[in-house]
Order: sequence, then C-alpha cells, then structure tokens
Amino acid sequence: MKYLIGIDIGTSGTKTVIFNDSGSPIASKTVEYPMYQPHNGWAEQDPEDWWRATVDGLRAVLAKSGADAGEIAGVGLSGQMHGLVMLDSEGRSLRPSIIWCDQRTGAECEYMNRVVGEKRMIEITANPPMTGFTASKILWVQKNEPDVYERCAHILLPKDYIRYRLTGEFATEVSDASGMQLMDVGGRCWSGEVLEKLGIDRSLLAKMYESPDVTGQVHGAAASETGLAAGTPVVGGAGDNPAAAVGTGVVSEGTAFTTIGTSAVVYAVSDSIRIDMKGRVHSLCASVPGKWTVMSCTQGAGLSLKWLRDTCCAPEIAEAGKQGVDPYEIMTGLAAEIPIGSEKLLFLPYLMGERSPHPDPDCRGVFFGLSAIHKRSHLIRSVLEGVAFSQLECVDVFREMGVPVSDMTVTGGGGRSPLWRQMLADLYGCPVNTLTADEGGALGVALLAGVGAGVFASVEQACTAVVRKTAPLLPDAAANEKYMPYFELYKELYLRLKDAYKTLANISG
Ligand code: XUL
Repeated sequence: MKYLIGIDIGTSGTKTVIFNDSGSPIASKTVEYPMYQPHNGWAEQDPEDWWRATVDGLRAVLAKSGADAGEIAGVGLSGQMHGLVMLDSEGRSLRPSIIWCDQRTGAECEYMNRVVGEKRMIEITANPPMTGFTASKILWVQKNEPDVYERCAHILLPKDYIRYRLTGEFATEVSDASGMQLMDVGGRCWSGEVLEKLGIDRSLLAKMYESPDVTGQVHGAAASETGLAAGTPVVGGAGDNPAAAVGTGVVSEGTAFTTIGTSAVVYAVSDSIRIDMKGRVHSLCASVPGKWTVMSCTQGAGLSLKWLRDTCCAPEIAEAGKQGVDPYEIMTGLAAEIPIGSEKLLFLPYLMGERSPHPDPDCRGVFFGLSAIHKRSHLIRSVLEGVAFSQLECVDVFREMGVPVSDMTVTGGGGRSPLWRQMLADLYGCPVNTLTADEGGALGVALLAGVGAGVFASVEQACTAVVRKTAPLLPDAAANEKYMPYFELYKELYLRLKDAYKTLANISG
C-alpha cells in the first residue's frame, strides 16, 4: 500500500492528513497556535510554532494510521498565502512572520505604485499592490528594521519554511509565489524588473517550481524528528486556495469553487492569464501546470451569519439546543419560508470592510429597506442573500474578464446549507454541487504529491480518480429573474455609500 501526506499550515493551526492512494483519509491531526497582534492591524506568527505543529501532526498521523514511514510515497505542503518569513545565512528565523491579514503596509503599497508604476505593476504581477501580499511586507522591513533586512539571506512563504525544515531546500512554487507580487505571473518566473525597482536582491528568493514537481527529499535530522523516512519526496504543493482547488477537482477552464467560511473565496481556472486592470479580483498561477486562476476574497461571509446568530438569534439557539441540531439549521429553515428579496430588505455584508470586488477597508455593513413588517427570519434571509450577491458580483467580474464559470462546487461551512447552495445556483445561473467529503487543501496537496511521486499521471487524472461530488442543484430561471432587481440595487448601494463610508471612518471617537 502507498500513502500520501498533505500538510496545511493554516492561520489557526496546522492540519496534517494521511491518505491512502485512493485519496481516502486514514488519519488526521490539527495542532493549533497563536496569532500575535502587537499593534492594531498587525498580525504575526512564530515560524517555530508552525514547525512544532508539523512535527506533532506528522508523529500523530503516522502513529494513528499504522502506516509504515517507508510506504509514504510523497508529502505535499499547503498553507496560508502571502506571509513573510526571513532567515539569516544559517537558516535561523530573524523575526516573527508578518502574515497575510496584517495591514501595516499602506505606505509601502503607494511606494510600489510610484516606483514601478500603477499600470506596469498590474501588467507584471497581475495584481495592484496589496497590503496583504508579501512585497509590501518586505519593503516595510527594509524601511523600519534595516538591521534585520541587512542580515536576511532567505525570504520564504510559510509553507516553504516548512519545506526548508523538512528538506533543507529553499524552494517555492508558482501558485503561492504569485501572491508575493514579485513574479511575472504570465511568465511563471520572478520579475527582474519589479525586483530591481523595489531594490530586492533575487538571491534572497527561493527556487521556483511547478506545484506537482519534487522539490527535495526529507533529510536525516527531519526524519528523526518527524518519524518520516529519510528520502521521502516533498513536492511544491500550493497556497491554500490553489490547493483547495485541486482537492475540489477545480482544475480545468469553466470549473470554479466558492467556499463560504468566515470569509468567502470564489476561484476559477483559465487556460491563459486573465488580468483585471481595475484590480477588483486577484490573478495567480494555478497549481495545475500551464493554467492560471482568478480569485476573489470577500471578508464577511459566514462571519455575517455568525454575527447575526450571536447578536439576534437567542431563540433559534435555544430551539437548536432542544432539538440537538446546529442553530444555523433552525435559522436557514426560517429563511426558507421568506420570499426572494426578503420582502424588500437588502444586506451589505461589509462588517469587516471589503477586499473583492471593492478593496475598501472603510465600508461597513448595512440593512437597507428595514420596515416594521420585518421579522428575524427576514434578517436571516437577507444576510444569506447579501453574501450570495457579493459572490455573484465577483463572478460577474470573472465573466467580464472572459473567464467562464459554468460548473460550481460550493464548500466550507456555508456550503453545507442547501438553501444557500440553491441561492448561488439561481444567481450564478449554473449547476452547483458540493463535495461528498471535504478535506480541502490537505487533500489537494496530497494529490499533487501523488502526481510528483508517479502515483497519478497528472493533476487532472488524480482529481478524476479521487474527488467525488454530490448531484448538482440546477439553476431556476424564474428565481433568477426575481433576484435581479434586488441585485442591481445591491450593487448601486455600495457606489452610493462609498463617500459616506469615508465620512464615517473619519469621525473621531
Ligand atoms: C488569499 C488569502 C487567504 C490566505 C489565508 O489571498 O489572503 O486566503 O491565504 O488563508
């Protein structure tokens, strides 16, 4: 028997899963760690915590599964994207990692636009300067911690740091590296022009691979620490969303996934690079060689429903307790009794500001059209509809860019609600399915490891062999017609409120 391991270095913890060669999970272990917020808007983690979690996770799954370490055909790494890890020439971490949700680099983004040029930046890196992405974090250290920058010999992403600890190699792969903003994303290589203009030495950066390529083998010391066998191949892997795409079978043009967790991501595959010059959605190299992806990230998806549950839905929580079910089941059951449009109530899901398609940290949530006839069930339905509208607004940008979306898989906590899935099918106008087993990014990179180790012939073949989906929910054209006037008004509301959001943000106290 051959086994594959997927390791997903997430923000709240690292999930390690061992799969058999049919892609069924045999054992899984998640080890949590803290995120540090030394100042408002800052977010850091200790790379040593990721390594400890990886070691504990590997030891646990190897023990639980009973698999012999020699039977592990390959290891794949996935993880939170964009985080900055800086190592000295001895491979020691120089400072805590500045991670994806850190927002300290507004000034550095403006600087990038000035020195590279706004248009050129998007043409090369496929995205406008983003506070969340890695390049602005590097510039922040250059400016604010010159002594650290001086001693820096290697710049890595979170999962690539784990690769270094496992194999001793300084390597990365195209899907995650696209989120550093130092790549020529169309050419799938580092951009000499951007590096030169930002004053970043190319020798600091890792060697670039495609996601299924073998990047190195587990070395002796790492083998003794983790229980893996020395020599086990470690493949490139992928950033968490490109990894989830493989685990969801979203690997060819026309296919896409929506994942509704705290935030929501829509991810679609294209055969050639497509860039939105307005910077409303991200473009990255896909984890499938020769393919690209467009991706949106909306901040307050499941978070909006959770906020409503916690602030307004005590009766539903109590009822759920009595019936022994999840409160969301009771809440969505009530929402299903309310007609489309929630009897003229709209919700804008900007409780945490927004990223796609409106990169705006100042916008905030709105109930619009609230009337004395509305009950809690209307609020619940309008939150579900508002989150679904925000996903459609992103998908419309994809379609405007020429990226087709004709087959959608919906995952994450929100994907478990048939009502939310049907809403998305009606709005997207395409069939919507979900996975029969949702192992997310860990499965995706285990499959990439299977390709690198020769268990599967290609990423596409691995997905066909392993990923299983439910029968699709079909779009209802009559429902779509009813939603459209509300959707048009939903889009207009952000535009009308844009300046008012700024005024609100500037009110002191
Ligand atoms: C993607 C992004 C997040 C992180 C953390 O652009 O910022 O999805 O990868 O999960």
